[in-house]
Amino acid sequence: MQKLLVTGASGFLGWNLCQLAATHWEVYGTCFSKTIAIPGTTIIAIDLTDLAALKDLFQTVQPDAVIHLAAQSSPNRCQNQPEASYRLNVTTSVHLAALCADRERPYVFASSEMVFDGLKAPYQESDRVSPINRYGEQKALAEVAVLDRYPKAAVCRMPLMFGAVPPTASSFIQPFIHALRTGQELKLFTDEFRTPVSGSTAAKGLLLALQTFQGRFHLGGKERVSRYEFGCRMAGVLALPTATIKACRQQDVPMAAKRPPDLSLDSSQAFALGYAPLSLREALTALRGLV
Ligand SMILES: NC(=O)c1ccc[n+]([C@@H]2O[C@H](COP(=O)([O-])OP(=O)(O)OC[C@H]3O[C@@H](n4cnc5c(N)ncnc54)[C@H](OP(=O)(O)O)[C@@H]3O)[C@@H](O)[C@H]2O)c1
Repeated sequence: MQKLLVTGASGFLGWNLCQLAATHWEVYGTCFSKTIAIPGTTIIAIDLTDLAALKDLFQTVQPDAVIHLAAQSSPNRCQNQPEASYRLNVTTSVHLAALCADRERPYVFASSEMVFDGLKAPYQESDRVSPINRYGEQKALAEVAVLDRYPKAAVCRMPLMFGAVPPTASSFIQPFIHALRTGQELKLFTDEFRTPVSGSTAAKGLLLALQTFQGRFHLGGKERVSRYEFGCRMAGVLALPTATIKACRQQDVPMAAKRPPDLSLDSSQAFALGYAPLSLREALTALRGLV
């Protein structure tokens, strides 16, 4: 089997991806501050912002392909820690592109829907980026620098994702589920729209990208929903109590990083190449008993 290096294996998406990839690849997954065990994956602890350590990792593993998911993925933390998050989100992503380019290894970089301002959705790959927070700026800068260094790389703009999680990570539904199960009020935006997918759908898309895509691609889902609508649908499918769900608007909740209102992605290019997200109902049904 060929060797696949997955950065961020202790994160939400990396954990989902490593499990799926292990049937076809010899998988090496990285973690940083947390330890994790994933069946079929060799876990390596590394600070990816240390270039010498990154080069050693390449020398030791000699990967045939790389999917780069490690990131400072919290917009609020990127806002408050701009230098540290830049080092990981931009500099490391380009270092990995260079290491892959020099060896002509397929490279997938996970970008984000947050490269857009949320005012002109649905967004196509050809739309101009327009980030409104540091996280989005860093992803937009990394996209350009990665593709400059390695035009054959696949830059996948990920949508909001949900799903089962390892003890080391979370997705946006875990706090929702906890609040509903414990009878706490859950305020959800009626004016923030996304095209979410499950972590397993996203992982399938990234593995497809590794083999098929070059350049920028959107890996959004097929349904545009508000957070509020998503929460209500999720509660219905997972048979959770809904009495404490309350509708609210973005402006009611102050946050460090500004939030784009509508980041719906038009992912028809990826659909045409075989990316086939489950419907939200199907994806949520698949999570029964797992979340
Ligand atoms: N989740 C979403 O809804 C979403 C939406 C759009 C785009 N994305 C993008 O998709 C990718 C995966 O997101 P995610 O939700 O899986 O992220 P996550 O759960 O926050 O995981 C981040 C990963 O990065 C690792 N990491 C952090 N600092 C590191 C360092 N200095 N060196 C090495 N590894 C380091 C973490 O390791 P430790 O935990 O071990 O420290 C963890 O494995 C990211 O690029 C994110 O920006 C995510």
